[in-house]
Amino acid sequence: MSNTNITPLRKPAEAAHPIHELISERWSPRAFSTRPVEHQKLHSIFEAARWAASAANFQPWSFIFAVKEHAEDHARILETLVPNNAGWAKEAPVLIITVAKLYDFAGREYHSYYDLGMAVENLVIQAGDLGLVVHQMGGFDADKARELFNIPAGYNALTVIALGYPGSADDLHPVLRERELAPRERKPLEEFVFEGSWKQAAPDAQA
Ligand SMILES: Cc1cc2nc3c(=O)[nH]c(=O)nc-3n(C[C@H](O)[C@H](O)[C@H](O)COP(=O)(O)O)c2cc1C
Repeated sequence: MSNTNITPLRKPAEAAHPIHELISERWSPRAFSTRPVEHQKLHSIFEAARWAASAANFQPWSFIFAVKEHAEDHARILETLVPNNAGWAKEAPVLIITVAKLYDFAGREYHSYYDLGMAVENLVIQAGDLGLVVHQMGGFDADKARELFNIPAGYNALTVIALGYPGSADDLHPVLRERELAPRERKPLEEFVFEGSWKQAAPDAQA
Protein backbone atom coordinates (compact mmCIF):
# COMPACT_ATOMS: atom_id res chain seq x y z
CA MET A 1 0.00 0.00 0.00
CA SER A 2 1.30 3.44 -0.87
CA ASN A 3 1.31 6.03 1.83
CA THR A 4 0.37 9.63 1.15
CA ASN A 5 3.60 11.24 2.21
CA ILE A 6 6.27 10.36 -0.31
CA THR A 7 8.62 12.37 -2.48
CA PRO A 8 7.45 11.75 -6.05
CA LEU A 9 9.92 10.04 -8.36
CA ARG A 10 10.94 12.49 -11.08
CA LYS A 11 11.96 11.33 -14.54
CA PRO A 12 12.22 14.56 -16.52
CA ALA A 13 12.74 14.30 -20.26
CA GLU A 14 16.34 14.64 -21.38
CA ALA A 15 15.21 17.19 -23.92
CA ALA A 16 17.55 18.16 -26.74
CA HIS A 17 15.86 21.58 -26.93
CA PRO A 18 14.01 23.62 -24.29
CA ILE A 19 10.42 22.45 -23.60
CA HIS A 20 7.79 23.38 -21.02
CA GLU A 21 8.31 21.91 -17.57
CA LEU A 22 4.84 20.33 -17.55
CA ILE A 23 5.81 18.40 -20.68
CA SER A 24 9.26 17.35 -19.53
CA GLU A 25 8.06 16.28 -16.07
CA ARG A 26 5.14 14.21 -17.36
CA TRP A 27 5.74 10.50 -17.37
CA SER A 28 3.69 7.33 -16.91
CA PRO A 29 4.17 5.89 -13.43
CA ARG A 30 2.56 2.72 -12.13
CA ALA A 31 2.86 3.56 -8.44
CA PHE A 32 -0.05 5.55 -7.01
CA SER A 33 -0.65 7.03 -3.59
CA THR A 34 -3.78 5.95 -1.73
CA ARG A 35 -4.72 9.65 -1.42
CA PRO A 36 -8.07 10.26 -3.12
CA VAL A 37 -8.28 12.91 -5.85
CA GLU A 38 -10.35 15.95 -4.89
CA HIS A 39 -13.51 16.36 -6.95
CA GLN A 40 -12.56 19.93 -7.81
CA LYS A 41 -9.33 18.66 -9.39
CA LEU A 42 -11.25 16.03 -11.34
CA HIS A 43 -13.55 18.76 -12.63
CA SER A 44 -10.51 20.78 -13.71
CA ILE A 45 -8.89 17.97 -15.65
CA PHE A 46 -12.12 17.27 -17.56
CA GLU A 47 -12.58 21.01 -18.11
CA ALA A 48 -9.09 21.06 -19.67
CA ALA A 49 -10.12 18.20 -21.97
CA ARG A 50 -13.25 20.15 -22.88
CA TRP A 51 -11.21 23.02 -24.29
CA ALA A 52 -9.14 20.94 -26.69
CA ALA A 53 -9.27 21.77 -30.38
CA SER A 54 -11.23 19.37 -32.59
CA ALA A 55 -12.10 19.10 -36.27
CA ALA A 56 -15.13 21.33 -36.98
CA ASN A 57 -15.44 21.72 -33.18
CA PHE A 58 -17.11 18.32 -33.23
CA GLN A 59 -15.76 17.47 -29.73
CA PRO A 60 -16.13 13.73 -30.28
CA TRP A 61 -14.82 12.69 -26.84
CA SER A 62 -16.50 11.19 -23.80
CA PHE A 63 -15.07 9.98 -20.49
CA ILE A 64 -16.49 7.43 -18.07
CA PHE A 65 -14.73 7.64 -14.73
CA ALA A 66 -14.85 5.79 -11.44
CA VAL A 67 -13.23 6.71 -8.12
CA LYS A 68 -11.94 4.07 -5.75
CA GLU A 69 -14.49 5.05 -3.09
CA HIS A 70 -17.16 3.76 -5.50
CA ALA A 71 -15.66 0.31 -5.36
CA GLU A 72 -18.11 -1.44 -7.71
CA ASP A 73 -17.66 1.03 -10.56
CA HIS A 74 -13.89 1.10 -10.04
CA ALA A 75 -13.78 -2.71 -10.10
CA ARG A 76 -15.83 -2.77 -13.32
CA ILE A 77 -13.28 -0.60 -15.12
CA LEU A 78 -10.50 -2.76 -13.69
CA GLU A 79 -12.26 -5.81 -15.13
CA THR A 80 -11.74 -4.45 -18.66
CA LEU A 81 -7.95 -4.24 -18.23
CA VAL A 82 -5.48 -6.93 -19.29
CA PRO A 83 -4.00 -8.60 -16.19
CA ASN A 84 -0.60 -6.89 -16.59
CA ASN A 85 -2.30 -3.51 -16.30
CA ALA A 86 -4.93 -4.47 -13.72
CA GLY A 87 -2.15 -5.66 -11.38
CA TRP A 88 -0.91 -2.12 -10.72
CA ALA A 89 -3.86 0.00 -11.89
CA LYS A 90 -6.06 -1.40 -9.12
CA GLU A 91 -4.28 1.00 -6.74
CA ALA A 92 -5.09 4.08 -8.85
CA PRO A 93 -7.74 6.19 -7.10
CA VAL A 94 -9.35 7.18 -10.41
CA LEU A 95 -9.84 5.13 -13.57
CA ILE A 96 -11.19 6.71 -16.73
CA ILE A 97 -12.40 5.08 -19.95
CA THR A 98 -11.89 7.33 -22.96
CA VAL A 99 -14.47 7.08 -25.74
CA ALA A 100 -14.53 8.51 -29.26
CA LYS A 101 -17.67 9.24 -31.26
CA LEU A 102 -16.91 7.82 -34.68
CA TYR A 103 -19.18 9.70 -37.08
CA ASP A 104 -20.14 13.33 -37.58
CA PHE A 105 -23.69 14.68 -37.97
CA ALA A 106 -23.71 13.51 -41.61
CA GLY A 107 -22.61 9.96 -40.73
CA ARG A 108 -19.10 10.51 -42.08
CA GLU A 109 -16.01 9.20 -40.32
CA TYR A 110 -14.12 12.10 -38.86
CA HIS A 111 -10.87 12.83 -37.01
CA SER A 112 -12.32 11.37 -33.84
CA TYR A 113 -9.29 9.46 -32.56
CA TYR A 114 -7.02 12.43 -33.22
CA ASP A 115 -9.42 14.75 -31.41
CA LEU A 116 -9.80 12.38 -28.46
CA GLY A 117 -6.00 12.28 -28.19
CA MET A 118 -5.91 16.08 -28.15
CA ALA A 119 -8.44 16.16 -25.31
CA VAL A 120 -6.55 13.52 -23.36
CA GLU A 121 -3.28 15.39 -23.71
CA ASN A 122 -5.00 18.51 -22.30
CA LEU A 123 -6.24 16.36 -19.42
CA VAL A 124 -2.76 14.93 -18.83
CA ILE A 125 -1.05 18.33 -18.78
CA GLN A 126 -3.72 19.82 -16.49
CA ALA A 127 -3.32 16.82 -14.16
CA GLY A 128 0.43 17.44 -14.03
CA ASP A 129 -0.14 21.06 -13.08
CA LEU A 130 -2.35 19.88 -10.20
CA GLY A 131 0.32 17.52 -8.84
CA LEU A 132 -1.39 14.43 -10.27
CA VAL A 133 0.08 11.67 -12.44
CA VAL A 134 -1.52 9.80 -15.32
CA HIS A 135 -0.87 6.44 -16.95
CA GLN A 136 -2.72 5.71 -20.19
CA MET A 137 -3.45 2.12 -21.20
CA GLY A 138 -4.34 0.56 -24.53
CA GLY A 139 -4.21 -2.86 -22.89
CA PHE A 140 -7.89 -3.36 -22.18
CA ASP A 141 -10.91 -5.06 -23.71
CA ALA A 142 -12.96 -2.44 -25.56
CA ASP A 143 -15.83 -4.89 -26.20
CA LYS A 144 -16.07 -5.65 -22.51
CA ALA A 145 -16.07 -1.92 -21.77
CA ARG A 146 -18.91 -1.47 -24.27
CA GLU A 147 -20.90 -4.20 -22.57
CA LEU A 148 -20.21 -3.20 -18.96
CA PHE A 149 -20.74 0.53 -19.49
CA ASN A 150 -23.49 0.52 -22.15
CA ILE A 151 -21.35 2.28 -24.75
CA PRO A 152 -23.57 2.51 -27.83
CA ALA A 153 -22.75 1.64 -31.46
CA GLY A 154 -20.97 4.52 -33.19
CA TYR A 155 -18.74 5.11 -30.17
CA ASN A 156 -15.48 3.26 -29.44
CA ALA A 157 -13.64 3.01 -26.13
CA LEU A 158 -9.99 3.74 -26.92
CA THR A 159 -8.02 3.66 -23.69
CA VAL A 160 -8.25 3.45 -19.94
CA ILE A 161 -6.46 6.10 -17.90
CA ALA A 162 -5.16 5.63 -14.36
CA LEU A 163 -5.00 8.92 -12.45
CA GLY A 164 -3.93 9.87 -8.95
CA TYR A 165 -1.20 11.26 -6.76
CA PRO A 166 2.25 9.71 -7.20
CA GLY A 167 3.06 6.71 -5.03
CA SER A 168 6.27 4.93 -4.12
CA ALA A 169 8.10 2.58 -6.49
CA ASP A 170 8.93 0.50 -3.37
CA ASP A 171 5.30 -0.64 -3.28
CA LEU A 172 5.49 -2.20 -6.75
CA HIS A 173 6.31 -5.79 -7.74
CA PRO A 174 10.09 -5.97 -8.38
CA VAL A 175 9.64 -6.31 -12.17
CA LEU A 176 7.45 -3.21 -12.29
CA ARG A 177 9.76 -1.38 -9.88
CA GLU A 178 12.62 -1.91 -12.31
CA ARG A 179 10.51 -0.44 -15.14
CA GLU A 180 9.44 2.40 -12.90
CA LEU A 181 13.06 3.36 -12.29
CA ALA A 182 14.25 2.82 -15.88
CA PRO A 183 15.23 5.91 -17.86
CA ARG A 184 12.75 7.35 -20.38
CA GLU A 185 13.85 7.09 -23.99
CA ARG A 186 12.85 8.72 -27.24
CA LYS A 187 13.82 8.58 -30.91
CA PRO A 188 15.95 11.52 -31.98
CA LEU A 189 14.19 14.37 -33.82
CA GLU A 190 15.89 13.59 -37.12
CA GLU A 191 14.05 10.25 -37.27
CA PHE A 192 10.62 11.88 -37.50
CA VAL A 193 10.98 15.58 -38.32
CA PHE A 194 11.67 16.27 -41.99
CA GLU A 195 12.26 19.53 -43.77
CA GLY A 196 11.05 19.99 -47.31
CA SER A 197 10.71 16.30 -48.18
CA TRP A 198 10.10 12.88 -46.63
CA LYS A 199 13.14 11.60 -44.71
CA GLN A 200 15.06 14.82 -45.21
CA ALA A 201 16.17 15.70 -41.72
CA ALA A 202 16.11 19.35 -40.68
CA PRO A 203 19.84 19.98 -40.07
CA ASP A 204 19.43 22.42 -37.18
CA ALA A 205 16.79 20.30 -35.36
CA GLN A 206 19.21 17.52 -34.46
CA ALA A 207 20.19 16.89 -30.88
C1 LIG B 1 -2.39 5.09 -26.21
C2 LIG B 1 -1.44 4.57 -25.15
C3 LIG B 1 -1.55 3.25 -24.73
C4 LIG B 1 -0.71 2.78 -23.71
N1 LIG B 1 -0.90 1.50 -23.24
C5 LIG B 1 -0.23 1.09 -22.13
C6 LIG B 1 -0.56 -0.13 -21.50
O1 LIG B 1 -1.49 -0.86 -21.90
N2 LIG B 1 0.15 -0.50 -20.39
C7 LIG B 1 1.16 0.29 -19.89
O2 LIG B 1 1.75 -0.08 -18.88
N3 LIG B 1 1.48 1.47 -20.47
C8 LIG B 1 0.81 1.91 -21.56
N4 LIG B 1 1.09 3.13 -22.12
C9 LIG B 1 2.17 3.97 -21.57
C10 LIG B 1 3.36 3.97 -22.50
O3 LIG B 1 4.03 2.74 -22.41
C11 LIG B 1 4.29 5.16 -22.14
O4 LIG B 1 3.60 6.36 -22.38
C12 LIG B 1 5.58 5.14 -22.97
O5 LIG B 1 6.37 4.02 -22.63
C13 LIG B 1 6.41 6.39 -22.74
O6 LIG B 1 6.71 6.55 -21.39
P1 LIG B 1 6.37 7.90 -20.62
O7 LIG B 1 4.87 8.13 -20.76
O8 LIG B 1 6.75 7.63 -19.18
O9 LIG B 1 7.16 9.01 -21.23
C14 LIG B 1 0.28 3.62 -23.14
C15 LIG B 1 0.38 4.95 -23.59
C16 LIG B 1 -0.47 5.42 -24.57
C17 LIG B 1 -0.36 6.87 -25.01
